[in-house]
Amino acid sequence: MSVIQVVGGRPLNGSLRIQGAKNSVLPILAATLLVKGETVITNCPNLSDVDAAIAILNHIGCKAGREGESVIVDSRTVTRADVPHELMSEMRSSVIFMGAMLARMGEAKLSLPGGCELGPRPVDMHMSALRALGAEIEETGGNIVGIAKKLTGCNVNFRFPSVGATENAMLAACGADGVTVITNAAREPEICDLADFLRKLGMDVQGEGTPTIMVRGRPQSAHIIHRIIPDRIVAATYLAAAAAAGGEVELIGVNPEHVMSAIEIFREMGCHITESGDRLTVKSSGSLKPAKAIETQPYPGFPTDMQPPIMAAALKCAGTTVFVENIFENRYRHAEEMRRLGADIKIEGRVAIVTGGKKLAGAPVKATDLRGGAALVVAALWAEGITEVSGIAYIDRGYDNITGSLGKLGASIERVL
Ligand code: UD1
Repeated sequence: MSVIQVVGGRPLNGSLRIQGAKNSVLPILAATLLVKGETVITNCPNLSDVDAAIAILNHIGCKAGREGESVIVDSRTVTRADVPHELMSEMRSSVIFMGAMLARMGEAKLSLPGGCELGPRPVDMHMSALRALGAEIEETGGNIVGIAKKLTGCNVNFRFPSVGATENAMLAACGADGVTVITNAAREPEICDLADFLRKLGMDVQGEGTPTIMVRGRPQSAHIIHRIIPDRIVAATYLAAAAAAGGEVELIGVNPEHVMSAIEIFREMGCHITESGDRLTVKSSGSLKPAKAIETQPYPGFPTDMQPPIMAAALKCAGTTVFVENIFENRYRHAEEMRRLGADIKIEGRVAIVTGGKKLAGAPVKATDLRGGAALVVAALWAEGITEVSGIAYIDRGYDNITGSLGKLGASIERVL
């Protein structure tokens, strides 16, 4: 089993290009099922989750494969409408294929995604949206089976702005007759990227980025080229790394607006951050002060996915930082591992109290989820001595070559077998 080995204490300096967004590429790969032709998706990060989505498309009968930083999908040849358990279990967000399969094939059989490392992740909102559009859905023997002889536009109102459920509703709505209006929709930039993609297919999509999205399914055009937006969570992770380790790092190919809630926090911590077009430069002395309470919220609020890496920077702040996690029930497992490095973190339900400014000492730690794993790497960058992070398959789900990227900036980091 490989581990990531970090020798802490080196500042980070230099430039880094930010990869395309994992959370954008996955629903867009599902959306390629709606195209009766070839789709070229550029700026695709090299991630195990992307490989899993490509494997699902090939299983369904598409011809999907990687060419450099692009993924090319030919969906003319779909032959089946099921995703087997092995493929489903590799990537929880594969439930997003349900809406696209119902829109394209009128049927879908997936195994239930079940709980995950962040606690229970129900899919009730996904299913109620698909049912409202006219799908008959049964959950039996660990599978979800959906049949839609006909999908019809309708009003879908979510009790919470779920990202995945909004995407599933948008995808199914593309195969529906008439207009679908989604209210209390998620507003994340990845929803906007999906809407841009769907418009290239000739769908009429309006309102993305606001709580009300309107979708009118239309005939699809063939041969689409689409560039994935930059990964805002990866950008925030490298900002956290530079803030905590100290140094001057330029991130290229970022949308600063998408990272604004994190930028504000790093400025409060004492970092100097400048924006210029698609570039962000962070300058940090490595001596940080605590920011005010950090509370996760749906976009444009502070994203739950940035909570773990920013906690790793908060450990460097001289004083107390309070985190409140409102999106997932069990999203502080990285805190237990950070304690092995000497971190002072108290967890009370949804609240984490981080008392920073103490020395961390390298130790073996284990990634238990994607962003928590990346956060351990950030903490290791400034912990004294050697930290070995195991469980790095989680990190590979979302970070395209994290060791190469941080190594290029001057960190002493390598993947060891
Ligand atoms: C997406 C992101 C993930 C991010 C999350 C929140 C992808 C591939 N993943 O996940 O990185 O952390 O948004 O920003 O884009 N919920 C229900 N019932 C449902 C659906 C969700 O109760 O049917 C709950 C979840 O348990 C969670 C909350 O809603 O507590 C938010 O989940 P959601 O926005 O759906 O997250 P994902 O789409 O799974």
